[in-house]
Amino acid sequence: MWSFLSDFSYKHEPICSFPFGLFLFILGTFLRTCAIAPLRPAPSFMTFPSPDAARGNAAPVIRLQSVQKSFALPSGEVFDAVQSLSLEIQQGDVFGLIGKSGAGKSTLLRLINLLERPDAGQVFVGGRDLTTLSRRELRDTRQNIGMIFQQFNLLQNATVFDNVAFPLKIHGRHSKAEINERVRECLDLVGLAEKIDTYPAQLSGGQKQRVAIARALAPRPQVLLCDEPTSALDTETTRALLETLRDINQKIGVTIVIVTHELSVVEVLCRNVAILEKGRLIEQFAVDAPSEERKTALGREIDELVRRREREAREPVAPRVATAQRNAQELAYV
Ligand SMILES: Nc1ncnc2c1ncn2[C@@H]1O[C@H](COP(=O)(O)OP(=O)(O)OP(=O)(O)O)[C@@H](O)[C@H]1O
Ligand SMILES: [Mg+2]
Repeated sequence: MWSFLSDFSYKHEPICSFPFGLFLFILGTFLRTCAIAPLRPAPSFMTFPSPDAARGNAAPVIRLQSVQKSFALPSGEVFDAVQSLSLEIQQGDVFGLIGKSGAGKSTLLRLINLLERPDAGQVFVGGRDLTTLSRRELRDTRQNIGMIFQQFNLLQNATVFDNVAFPLKIHGRHSKAEINERVRECLDLVGLAEKIDTYPAQLSGGQKQRVAIARALAPRPQVLLCDEPTSALDTETTRALLETLRDINQKIGVTIVIVTHELSVVEVLCRNVAILEKGRLIEQFAVDAPSEERKTALGREIDELVRRREREAREPVAPRVATAQRNAQELAYV
């Protein structure tokens, strides 16, 4: 209707008097604006969603409905890696996926962005069923789902700037100035602003993983999928990286789903956790809600870690005054 009106004034210029044509054009433009505005949110490329708004939203950002994935083995047999699994992850959560090697954790994570297409079931992210999307729609929707891997997967011949800018450039919708601003914003977020012109080979493992996080965040995803992001890092670097992930979750409200075999990662970072065995979800719980009735050994181990942390928090701090006194005596002695 609105486009007809504004187009009509162009196409039928000879039969439209100037004032009437102008009236139709303005009316058409007005109606077009009114109709489109609610459909397309204002571009929010340079701003992050409010974390409070994100957490306040109770709707799951990820919903897996009876997903199933099998692989054909060289022997001709079929192996069920994920079996009729349903799962919901709330917006703003930090959600851990744990289980033994081969339990199906990575396969499940890759089902969320359809790197693995399920044989059956539905995958909803941000309310859209990804299994129904065309190839192009899926490519666009994946901008909403960042992913980082154990081995960082950076472009070795590109600088840190170009690595982070990469997902923005290939989608071609952003000006040079926007890309420049966004890359700096993301590098600031992971504390790597000063490395903008260096190459991956000149970075430590932890720094490479931060670049990977910055790259994953560049298109402003709602969801960040992490497959064993700390496995290649030492304990100290792991701790720093977990702090970065927690910081990102709190500052920008991005939902984090993390696959890990390190229970300490779950205990430090995650609010909720799901335990997988042989492609099935065996139990799921809030990490800070210890219980005697966990079904799995892994669940009980997580509880034990949480309880130990609580005990340590209650215990009195070591007598620092005495230590300081002793240090002073030792210094005086020298
Ligand atoms: N492309 C594939 N072809 C055949 N089998 C596969 C394929 N991908 C995964 N599998 C099998 O599916 C099962 C689950 O694999 P997955 O990588 O999801 O396990 P995981 O829990 O991530 O294990 P890990 O902790 O060792 O990374 C494994 O037995 C694996 O061998
Ligand atoms: Mg894996």
